[in-house]
Amino acid sequence: MSNIDLIDRLAADGVLAEEEFTELLATYTAADRDYAAALAYRIARGQFGTQLHAWGVIDLTNHCSKDCFYCGLCRSNEALERYRLSTEDVLRCCAEGHDLGIRTFVLQAAEDPEFGDDVADDLIWRVRKGFPDSAIALSFGERSRAAYQRYFDAGADRYLLRHETADAEHFAQLHPRRSTLANRIRCLEDLKSIGFETGCGMMVGTPYQTPLRLARDLLFIADFDPALVTVGPFLPSSSTKFTGSPAGSVEKTLFMLSLVRIILPDADLPVMTSIATAHPRGREMAVMAGANVVLPNLTPPADRAKYSLYDGRVTLGRDAAEGLAILMKRMAAIGYTLASDRGERQRRKR
Ligand code: 5AD
Repeated sequence: MSNIDLIDRLAADGVLAEEEFTELLATYTAADRDYAAALAYRIARGQFGTQLHAWGVIDLTNHCSKDCFYCGLCRSNEALERYRLSTEDVLRCCAEGHDLGIRTFVLQAAEDPEFGDDVADDLIWRVRKGFPDSAIALSFGERSRAAYQRYFDAGADRYLLRHETADAEHFAQLHPRRSTLANRIRCLEDLKSIGFETGCGMMVGTPYQTPLRLARDLLFIADFDPALVTVGPFLPSSSTKFTGSPAGSVEKTLFMLSLVRIILPDADLPVMTSIATAHPRGREMAVMAGANVVLPNLTPPADRAKYSLYDGRVTLGRDAAEGLAILMKRMAAIGYTLASDRGERQRRKR
């Protein structure tokens, strides 16, 4: 069966066998990639039209107790200046974003022990009360089921936790021994069963990744059926174990994004900052390959650069307003406008 036939069958069935995904990922050509992108783009246009949702990201803290081998925020990176926003700072960022028309806030935090469940719970309540017409998405990492339940009860709607890789051995090659794929999956299952619109995802091009391992990511995604998926290239970060490793390929990242769109026609697929960092037209290319959400940054400009997951993380504009204006002008150039609602899931079964 040709790769084009495999892509068509993926569109018809929503999944392929592990050997088929592996074969596709090991042998695809630029023409196969373009074919998948065109199909993914048509699917996204059919689902979402020409409106993009803008989710405003607020990076709350870059203190981290974990030591993931790829991440610039890892505990052992002593070169990094650490910061933590106060609850008041975060509410100010939300207010600024809300005035700009943003109706989803992504509260993102490294695994900061000082940012405990009580602080998080209080923050979510206050954002929920202050912005009743907006969705709240969280990305606070691995926490207990009880903590996730509290966040949900406080009014959070979505939770993003990348699985990073669905292959346990690969997971162990990317993380210190005390982090496990089993716990990551426990978290994702808890989040979904609590009722969050749950997101998983992975980097493309991490050390030790293979076509088989990427195939396992796609199988995991097809099986888990998340409401959102984030896919971005691995970009090396100084002061990490993987400093000297090559960056992931932009083209492969876009191919993976398109395959995910074909598997999950109605999922939210954000354009990640990593793809924008890896290529000057990365945002546009991701939308043309099936993405439907953009992520303007609402973090105070003075702290933005310190949330350095990888080197050179780009930000648009000097502040939130300028950043959003530049972003939407660029998206307008490829035919998109900003949606004004929170991105409801009524259309979804999940
Ligand atoms: N390159 C790209 N993405 C990264 N992340 C962490 N470090 C890097 C990197 N070097 C992503 C991980 C994690 C999220 C917080 O950021 O996938 O889940």
